[in-house]
Amino acid sequence: MKTIPYFSEASRTVRSTLPGEAGLPVVGYSLDFLTKPVAMGLSLYRKYGPVYWINAFGMTFLQMQGPDANQFVFRNQGDIFSSSQGWDFYIGKFFKRGIMLLDFDEHRHHRGIMQAAFKKQVLMQYLERMNPAIEKGIGRWRESKKFPVLKKIKQLTLDMATEVFMGEELGPEADKVNQAFVDCVRAGTSLVRFSVPGGRWKKGLKGRKVLEAFFRSRLAVKRANPGDDLFSRLCLAEDENGRRFSDDDVINHMIFLMMAAHDTSTITLCSIFYQLAKHPEWQERVREEALSLGKRDISHEDLAKLETMGLVMKEALRLLAPVHGIPRKTVKDCEFKGHHIPAGTFITLSPMITHHMPEWWESPEKFDPERFSEARNEHKKHLYQYVPFGGGAHMCIGLHFAEMQVKAILHHVVQRYRWSVADDYVMPVDFTSLPVPGDGLPVKLECM
Ligand code: HEM
Repeated sequence: MKTIPYFSEASRTVRSTLPGEAGLPVVGYSLDFLTKPVAMGLSLYRKYGPVYWINAFGMTFLQMQGPDANQFVFRNQGDIFSSSQGWDFYIGKFFKRGIMLLDFDEHRHHRGIMQAAFKKQVLMQYLERMNPAIEKGIGRWRESKKFPVLKKIKQLTLDMATEVFMGEELGPEADKVNQAFVDCVRAGTSLVRFSVPGGRWKKGLKGRKVLEAFFRSRLAVKRANPGDDLFSRLCLAEDENGRRFSDDDVINHMIFLMMAAHDTSTITLCSIFYQLAKHPEWQERVREEALSLGKRDISHEDLAKLETMGLVMKEALRLLAPVHGIPRKTVKDCEFKGHHIPAGTFITLSPMITHHMPEWWESPEKFDPERFSEARNEHKKHLYQYVPFGGGAHMCIGLHFAEMQVKAILHHVVQRYRWSVADDYVMPVDFTSLPVPGDGLPVKLECM
């Protein structure tokens, strides 16, 4: 019985001493978690405050809501919260030993090496590779009354990731590799967490094997002939003591990075596409700003000039945080706001819920990019109220990369295309994995 998290001593203590509720028999809150996490989270937060437990996925979770909770967990003073043990439940089998699944000293050591691949000088080189890849990718887009944004953007970001990360085009293997990523990510939120034929879990395990073989087959060549792509950077990266990654480390980090990069950027771009279709006046502002640069390809210095685009990106990330829930597990007892939380407790932080709290955001459901402007700075009331990239030791290492990629894509797209949706269209969001448009986001796409 001890190995089943629901029956662990920590779970029993949490259920008997902290506020919360079990939800439906057997499934608990699993379905709400997968279909309407924000509405569920806000309503339980109003009922119980910032700390409460629920049952879901056969476990008891402690949900810690709001900026103070984010601060407490992200800062993680005294190494209380394990990222590895939190994420392992969802994606450990598929993204094992990815950097987010390492903890404390080992994590600090790996992050120190990986940092070399995300320095400003290196990002500038990635951007040089991005411009032609974007132009080529979006050049294939055609006018359509139902242009499937999710599918096309996912394709584009994967093509870019292979170009920028691997330094090559995928060619005929593209579909297989793309499917392997999709299967690994979707397996993470599978309700059935063991292999059954045709099930998500089994597909995820198969996907992992495909990805390992794919990266291993290219490793020796990369070590021997490094280029300026991310794969080469990881092969060469050293910390201040000259330590490098082993072959297995490089493969594990590459698989994790490809996933972390292309899914999150895809979701961000889908959210931006949706909002700019619903708010054509903002689409026009973004376009005018892009045109005012007077060039198709952008350089690193141009990024800061795209201020309107920056506001739109921030607001899109607030409304739809690609990593909408962040798991941790306590490895030590701790106290938060008078609550005793025992070691062994599964915790979830929810950027999405913090981003929708009316006590921190004016009309939180409204698309209002100006809230991030210097004049209003609505996001600066608390250091941890706006956390699309997390915080603390595991804060997104790719946040500047993401901003660069999203801005570069938008910069090219708005100069070539205009897009719209019907006035009454509302994008459904599928939360069964990372949140994506449930209908693929069909828009009317027109050439400029
Ligand atoms: C808008 C796009 C992105 C969003 C919203 C996002 C969000 C996040 C969040 C919330 C975390 C923290 C997870 C946690 O604390 O458990 C994270 C970690 C991470 N992200 Fe991103 N991410 C984005 C893009 C990227 C890109 C483009 C890359 C790589 C090029 C990347 C690489 C990583 C890595 C390696 C980690 C783990 C860092 C660590 O554990 O030390 N992300 N990301």
